[in-house]
Amino acid sequence: MSKQLKIELPAPHAGQRQVLAEAKRFNVLACGRRWGKTVLGIDRIVKPVLEGLPAAWFSPTYKMLLEAWRALQEALAPVITSRNNAEYRLECRGGGSLTMFSLDGDVSDTVRGRAFKSVVVDEAALVKQLRSVWENAIRATLADHRGDAWFLSTPRGMNDFKAFYDRGQDPEREDWASWQMPTSTNPHIAPEEIEAARIDMTEAAFNQEFLAQFVSWEGAVFRRVMECATAERKDGPEAGHEYVIGADWGRSNDYTVFSVIDVTARAMVDMDRSNRVDYVVQRGRLQALCDRWRPSQIIAESNSIGQPIIEELQRAGLPVKAFTTTNASKAEIIEALALAFEQGSISILPDPVLLGELQAFAAEQLPGGMLRYAAPGGGHDDTVMSLAIAWSVIRADKRRYGLTEYLASETAEIEKERLDATAERLASCRFGVNRIDAGQAPAAGCPECGALCISRVSSGGKRCANCGHQFDEPDMTPTHPQNRTTLAGLR
Ligand SMILES: Nc1ncnc2c1ncn2[C@@H]1O[C@H](COP(=O)(O)OP(=O)(O)OP(=O)(O)O)[C@@H](O)[C@H]1O
Ligand SMILES: [Mg+2]
Repeated sequence: MSKQLKIELPAPHAGQRQVLAEAKRFNVLACGRRWGKTVLGIDRIVKPVLEGLPAAWFSPTYKMLLEAWRALQEALAPVITSRNNAEYRLECRGGGSLTMFSLDGDVSDTVRGRAFKSVVVDEAALVKQLRSVWENAIRATLADHRGDAWFLSTPRGMNDFKAFYDRGQDPEREDWASWQMPTSTNPHIAPEEIEAARIDMTEAAFNQEFLAQFVSWEGAVFRRVMECATAERKDGPEAGHEYVIGADWGRSNDYTVFSVIDVTARAMVDMDRSNRVDYVVQRGRLQALCDRWRPSQIIAESNSIGQPIIEELQRAGLPVKAFTTTNASKAEIIEALALAFEQGSISILPDPVLLGELQAFAAEQLPGGMLRYAAPGGGHDDTVMSLAIAWSVIRADKRRYGLTEYLASETAEIEKERLDATAERLASCRFGVNRIDAGQAPAAGCPECGALCISRVSSGGKRCANCGHQFDEPDMTPTHPQNRTTLAGLR
């Protein structure tokens, strides 16, 4: 007797319906945040599984894979016959299966010998070297079943995902289709939420994240610089105003710059720039500035001077906090400063060196999509950095964090995920070693003893080989949403 099973999936919204109607074999969906890309991906991947065929889901990072793993288990719950938590694989009634892969390592060996009817690459613009992953690993897995592929993402600059999008627009590439849709086409997201996000973001970030435009991040970073150069140099503090100092210490060829910001007036009031590298002299200048402005905080870039000197300044009674420059932390404070210029919420001194450095300051896109901010051609950016470091206090003060900051921290998170994955691999080959190679950031070890000898266990969690502690069990609780029925004719 034939028995039918129901899988409940959300009814596609109008934008999703358009995509489904126009789909070809290889599909590239460039959509705004929260458009419903993952919902559509789940819809597409469930179909072959219910038809008794194998399918695969690729996520750029392990963390994203875990989120999708939960969502797909929920979606397929009624038909799952067995699950392999170590390999992220679900076997389903009727013979279909779903396997999931994270693309922060090399998958070409892992997928060798596999064949899929459908693959979804979620957040494809975040995949490092998407084109090579597609050509060297994924494409061949679709040959047996003449399978289809779905690349779903919000754009991230002009990277391989943009090239894939362009294929979909090229009439000569008959197998490829692509779409570009803003977040506003998802009727389940309130328009006022989108407008609220716009206020907190630079125009370029909004265009990318919510309008799904391919924004070139290369080139000038600060706009409306001259319009904001209206502040006047002052001699000393105004009663009732709070001041902070941002300190960028020079190395051998650089300048040391201290920028003083009036937090109350959101205005730069003083700047001290010198190329005397002698630390004692610099310290004297900082002390003099402090005596004049009585700042509530001094934020000092700590990479060039080191933690011991920060501590020495603290012991001398200066209210110093360290700022550690990494690519991600620099991006975060530079983007916050760029937003302040765009919104006209900062006023700066019309100092010619500062204006020149601000106008020349540029962004360069790295192959993985991350941005590197710097003065072009090895020029100086010390005044920009000291201003951005000082402004970070005001940004941190804001109750509401903008998406720009969120994205920067997310980028840092992705980078950390990658390092964690590397550390995990190293730990499994070098049993019991308690640190990783110099130059790597510290990895997440065992929460009990800190050791890095972590391995996966069949229940899906992790186990520390040093102390035996087990942790990080994925949440398997199924829930049953929504309102569309796909019928699976299963015997
Ligand atoms: N067809 C639909 N019916 C009901 N709700 C939907 C539908 N499509 C999307 N949503 C809802 O919209 C929100 C965003 O969906 P989803 O997570 O799939 O978007 P996304 O584009 O993948 O977002 P992100 O950019 O954060 O990855 C979710 O709350 C989801 O439940
Ligand atoms: Mg998503």
